[in-house]
Amino acid sequence: MSLQIAPLSLPAQQEHGETVFPYVIGCQSTDATLEEVTDWLSSEREGLLDLAHQHGAVLFRGFPLVQAEDFDAFIAAFGLPNFPYKESLSNAVRVNRTERVFSANEAPPDVHILFHHEMAQTPMFPTTLFFFCEIAPAEGGATPICRSDVLYERLSQECPEFAHNCETKGLKYSNVMPDADDAQSGMGRSWKSTLRVETRQEAEARLLELGYSWKWNEDGSLRATTPVLPCVREVSPGRKVFFNQLIAAFCGWKDARNDPADAIRHGDDSRLDRDAVMRAVELADELTFDVEWHAGDAVLVDNTLIMHGRKPFKGTRKVLASLADKQTHSFESMA
Ligand code: FE2
Repeated sequence: MSLQIAPLSLPAQQEHGETVFPYVIGCQSTDATLEEVTDWLSSEREGLLDLAHQHGAVLFRGFPLVQAEDFDAFIAAFGLPNFPYKESLSNAVRVNRTERVFSANEAPPDVHILFHHEMAQTPMFPTTLFFFCEIAPAEGGATPICRSDVLYERLSQECPEFAHNCETKGLKYSNVMPDADDAQSGMGRSWKSTLRVETRQEAEARLLELGYSWKWNEDGSLRATTPVLPCVREVSPGRKVFFNQLIAAFCGWKDARNDPADAIRHGDDSRLDRDAVMRAVELADELTFDVEWHAGDAVLVDNTLIMHGRKPFKGTRKVLASLADKQTHSFESMA
C-alpha cells in the first residue's frame, strides 16, 4: 500500500511572504511502516531540505516513529553528514541514545531555555537540526521556534544603529565551564567534555587552536571567551538572519558560575544596547510558534534560519535531537 502523505495546516501557523511557518506534513496511512517512510524520505530528501530552507522548519506528524532508533533511521534517510555531540562545543549536558541521537538537554523541567541558533556562539555550528518527541510532557514543554530572518528585518527597521553595530562589530561570548558536568544547569557541560581533553595543558592548546582567550578560576572552572563571531549572516542575497546566541547569552546564561552581564560583548568589547536587545526579545516572542509536541512528531530545522528554545514543563518529557552538516564560521565585517 502506498503512503498517504499531505501538507497540513495548524491553527497558529504563520505566513511570511510566500512561506508558512512551520511547514507541516502529515502521514494519514495508519499502517505505514518505518521502511516505507525512510524509502519515501530518501527519494524526496532534496525537496524536503529545500522546504526547510524556504520555510525554516518542517514538522512531520503522524509518521510511525516510536523510539530513538526509528528517529535515527528517519535522520539517516536525509543523507546529511552527522555532527556528533561529542565533537561539538555545545554548553548543554546531553546523553547519547544512538550514534546520531541524544537527549535535547538534561536541564531540569523548570529551566526555560531561551531562543538561540544552535552553536552560533562557537566557531562550528550545524546547518540542520532534527528534533523528535518520544514522550510528550503532561503540561508545557513546547519547543518555541522563531524565524530569525523576519526578526532581523523588523529589528533593523526599528533599531538601525544596533543592527549596524551587530553587522559590523560581531560578538564575543564568555562562559564559565565547570570542572565536572553539572546537569542542574542548562549550560553545565564541563570543560573536559566540551573541549574533549583531560588536562589543563590540553585544554589550553585546544582553546588556542580555536582562537579563544581564557582564565582558570580557583574552583577548577574555566572562563573562556570566543574569538569575534558574526551576529548576522546573509544566507542568500538580501536575506539576512540574526544568527547568534545573543538573546540566550544576554538574558539567560545564568547559573551558579555564570552572570549574564559578563556573557556577551560586541567584537570591540563595547557593551550591547540593552533597550535594543529587549526589543529583539519582544520581537522574538511576537514571532514565536510553539511546537506543542505529540508523541512521534519529528521536526527538520534549518538552523541558519530559525532560533529555538525550550519551555518549562511538568511530567516526563523526552525530546531527542540530532545535529547535521557541520560548518565553520568566522567574522567578516558586512559593512
Ligand atoms: Fe539548542
